[in-house]
Amino acid sequence: MCGIIGYKGSNQSDNIANNVVLKGLQSLEYRGYDSWGIANIYENNIESTKQIGKIGHINLEDLNLKQTNIAVGHTRWATHGNVTETNAHPHFSSDKKIAVVHNGIIENFQEIRGSLDQKGYKFISQTDTEVIPKLIHYFHYKKNMSFKEAVRQTALKLEGYYAFVAIKHDSDQMIGARNGSPLVLGIGDGEGKNEFYAASDVPAFLNHTNKAVYLDDNEMFIFDNQLEIFNIESNKPVEYNITDITWNAQQAQKGEFKHFMLKEISEQKFTIKKAIEQPKELINKVVDMIKNSVGVFFVACGTSYHAGLAGSYLFSSIAKEHANIVLASEFPNHQDFITKDTLMIAISQSGETADLLQAVRVAKRKGVKIISIVNVMGSTLMRLSDVSVLMNAGPEICVLSTKSYTSQVAILTLLAYTLAGKYEEGKKYIEEASHYVDEIIDNNIEDIENLAYQLKDSKDIFIIGRDLAYPTALECALKVKEVSYIHAEGFAGGELKHGTIALIEEKVPVIVLNTEKTKKEITGNAMEVKSRGAYLIGINDEPNDIYDHYIYVPSVGVTDPILDIIPVQLFAYYLAIARGCDPDKPRNLAKSVTVK
Ligand code: M6R
Repeated sequence: MCGIIGYKGSNQSDNIANNVVLKGLQSLEYRGYDSWGIANIYENNIESTKQIGKIGHINLEDLNLKQTNIAVGHTRWATHGNVTETNAHPHFSSDKKIAVVHNGIIENFQEIRGSLDQKGYKFISQTDTEVIPKLIHYFHYKKNMSFKEAVRQTALKLEGYYAFVAIKHDSDQMIGARNGSPLVLGIGDGEGKNEFYAASDVPAFLNHTNKAVYLDDNEMFIFDNQLEIFNIESNKPVEYNITDITWNAQQAQKGEFKHFMLKEISEQKFTIKKAIEQPKELINKVVDMIKNSVGVFFVACGTSYHAGLAGSYLFSSIAKEHANIVLASEFPNHQDFITKDTLMIAISQSGETADLLQAVRVAKRKGVKIISIVNVMGSTLMRLSDVSVLMNAGPEICVLSTKSYTSQVAILTLLAYTLAGKYEEGKKYIEEASHYVDEIIDNNIEDIENLAYQLKDSKDIFIIGRDLAYPTALECALKVKEVSYIHAEGFAGGELKHGTIALIEEKVPVIVLNTEKTKKEITGNAMEVKSRGAYLIGINDEPNDIYDHYIYVPSVGVTDPILDIIPVQLFAYYLAIARGCDPDKPRNLAKSVTVK
């Protein structure tokens, strides 16, 4: 939530700093898009611009920013204070000598604000962030500390989660700090290049470099003529490693596709396969950890939670292994049941979801071992984990999770098969499933688009499935809701009659998913809603006269959940288009939810 970027180079040609920051913000927009702002240093002054709304369509020429070699930017997902220009970042000291961009939440901002108020500092925004530039100002100008020491002392005062970057009007240094929110540094990799980037996520600078340094919690960085990293508490220098990022800039672009959502849905033909291209030793290691544990907990949020739920069905049916599944935000309320022998399998695309990180920290305090299934390399989750299985899905830019879901389910399927001693068999099934992706899309895309236009004014859409199709039903509902704003609910087929069937009336669309095992029962449930007027859409491998609309998806047995979701991802996409919604940036959402 919220994207930040800072750039410091050695020259000003081509308005490079503003250009890098603007483009960087455009590629970080999935993290928040209600307002944005840029600040830079020009002739010992901080100049800035802020606007409400999305940054995607903005051209540098329209901004009238002067040539400079140092700039910071921010794209916001509001937490503290309405969406206004004043609340948009960067925030400044009152004399505009210090500018700061920040991601996270400063939990003790009222306390700090109160004490700065007493010292005569005036606040103009409703944000928590504004205390940061003012505190730096206080330590630097009133307490005569160096810029670096003022930033360090400020960081020491902050409680909560933050990643921030600060610049000072007469300094060539860019300084930032991190505790709990993501901050990755890019090192210019051209010969003789003295360029540095600091950003919430690597796509912000992938166009310029793939050399990255991941800042850890409680660390601060200084870009001067070189990069230096310090521990905030001890003030001691920290040695760092430069990582080569395997993602490339092209992967983070739309290419021929109109939207990232459509691009990422279609990429599943590759990403499902890539997900299971794991070193066998790694999979065996994870399986050994599962076998040696007393109690496994899948923990995740949103779509990743649905993948975890599918995982619990897969573990049970394929490996005869019980696994608990808990929403990350609720995990702390289950901590009485965990011991040091418990194993947590944390599932996340971003690896930065605050609820999940909190769950992981709670578990770690109890001595629990953490396995993560995660897409973003170097993410906080990855660094907190004992073992990580990388999803290899490439950057997922659309706010909706699509390809990351099927990658997660593919990995969980492989783990279940390996647990059952059938690694090769599992791989074979998943690969087979991946070969159908193109066919499912090509054969149905037109029909699904028409169906979406036909049903675009529906008030509610229900999805039913049993067994492995139940997590898929939940995921289908989430896709429809978050992108089209139509109310949708996924149900275990047997559960509808326990209350929700009261909502079924003439022409309410009900999507029916099935599995080989549950065909008969789900058909019975479908009949129950049909006799109350529902419009039935069957998505499976066997047409049935009861369906008002039918979409064929081949059955690949236990890997069905990997394929069944694809038509509904497309359906949700076209519902959004038909209703004039932005599929890549739905209202009120952001890609990684870094607040609790
Ligand atoms: O990055 P994560 O997988 O941890 O994110 C979890 C959820 O925030 C995420 O899946 C969210 O529900 C998406 N908007 C779903 O499309």
